[in-house]
Amino acid sequence: MRRFEDNSWKEKMRIRFDYNNMMSDMIGDEWGINKDQITALIPKIRDAVDKLNHKRKAGKTQWRDLPYIQKDVVKDILAAADEVRQKYETFVLLGIGGSALGPIAVHQALNHLHYNELPREKRGGPRFYVVDNIDPERIQALFDVVDIKNTVFNVVTKSGNTSETMAQFLIVRNMLKEAIGEKYRERIIATTDAEKGSLIKIAREEGYRTFFIPAGVGGRFSELSPVGLLPAAVGGIDIEELLAGAAYMDELCSEDDVFKNPAYMAAVLQYIAMQQGKNISVMMPYADSLKYMADWYAQLWAESLGKKLDLDGKEVYAGQTPVKALGATDQHSQIQLYTEGPFDKVITFITVEKYRSKVCIPRAYEDMTGVSFLGGHTINRLIRAEQMATEYALYKAKRMNRTIILPEVNAFTIGQLLYMLEVETAFIAELLNINAFDQPGVEEGKIAAYALMGRPGYERKKAELESGTEKKMEYII
Ligand code: PA5
Repeated sequence: MRRFEDNSWKEKMRIRFDYNNMMSDMIGDEWGINKDQITALIPKIRDAVDKLNHKRKAGKTQWRDLPYIQKDVVKDILAAADEVRQKYETFVLLGIGGSALGPIAVHQALNHLHYNELPREKRGGPRFYVVDNIDPERIQALFDVVDIKNTVFNVVTKSGNTSETMAQFLIVRNMLKEAIGEKYRERIIATTDAEKGSLIKIAREEGYRTFFIPAGVGGRFSELSPVGLLPAAVGGIDIEELLAGAAYMDELCSEDDVFKNPAYMAAVLQYIAMQQGKNISVMMPYADSLKYMADWYAQLWAESLGKKLDLDGKEVYAGQTPVKALGATDQHSQIQLYTEGPFDKVITFITVEKYRSKVCIPRAYEDMTGVSFLGGHTINRLIRAEQMATEYALYKAKRMNRTIILPEVNAFTIGQLLYMLEVETAFIAELLNINAFDQPGVEEGKIAAYALMGRPGYERKKAELESGTEKKMEYII
């Protein structure tokens, strides 16, 4: 039996959501949320639950079913990953946005924190890189450290057309061809839509191995599809446990009663907080392994909720600005603002009860009380104390904060965390009456970039850009 099939282990690994410090009984009537405010929303919450359930039944939110619909896909991924792990020195993911942030977050969470520097026998698989930008210096730097003859490239793009990713692909394909000739085809794995976009056409024509992102799974909701599963499996992460964690959270989130459903409650609290002018959502994990979860969440929250129009076409300018922080590091950078600055934030801590390492602080300098009190404790205790202390400081300053508690960081808890935050995002979008799954606001910039790069069909946009307002030299100093 796998451990995730054991109910008592699952219960022990259940992540918990502590929202005490969002509530008025804790931080006072002026700044906290009253339980009655939540109950007053029950009809709206029921409506949102119905809408979300309806969308799921209609197959419009297939990302919710990823834990269940990928048995064969998982087999193929494990086979491909096994081959890559045995044969190659380096695995490079080319992608951007939702096609990169999840793989980065999960790799950081579940692999060794200095994975690439470990010797091969300890890693067990290839070194792992994600190129999620088109900075020429970074691309060149990658080729300075990887041996292309020993590398597999995973090109990930749902649309199959994203300029940044396709430019990276063109560079890599050319380099591979020059280095190993026609065998280059074996070194490119495409993860994309089964029908749409240029990448699938190229992949079919040139015979690349392919994995598909299901139709109802958009970029930022795709981590539990082959987008995230293949790179995770290549890194030796147990992807079946990851999906089992997501399925478990799905069970917890299938509870209609908001007071028992962590994702719905998280969304409702943020919704009320937004009505009260909390325009900023800070995510602050107290674990380096979870540092990039905050990046992944920032995209999910920003792109899903930042909307000019609601579903009725009314101008609403919705959204809450996500901010990434890391405990304890950012106590020495951002916490001053959070305790004494404007009352415009909700801070979400992520804490870990049991870290995978334990480090003792040696006793020394017994005559120096400012240092000696640390000796004899573990650094685990120190980081825990710092998180509790920061939470307390925010509570005293009457700042809304909440905590997601992970018993441990493992594939099961990470699956739960990803799924919970996705459901929270989709649910708050229902409350806000906006579409969480589109991103019309990025179109203008995309089109302007096509025009500037001379893409056929965008000549008028180019002319518009060229005839646009000229910048005044007096404002450039
Ligand atoms: O969430 C989204 O849909 C976007 O952020 C995309 O992930 C991003 O634009 C990359 O798109 P694609 O996967 O099509 O290359």
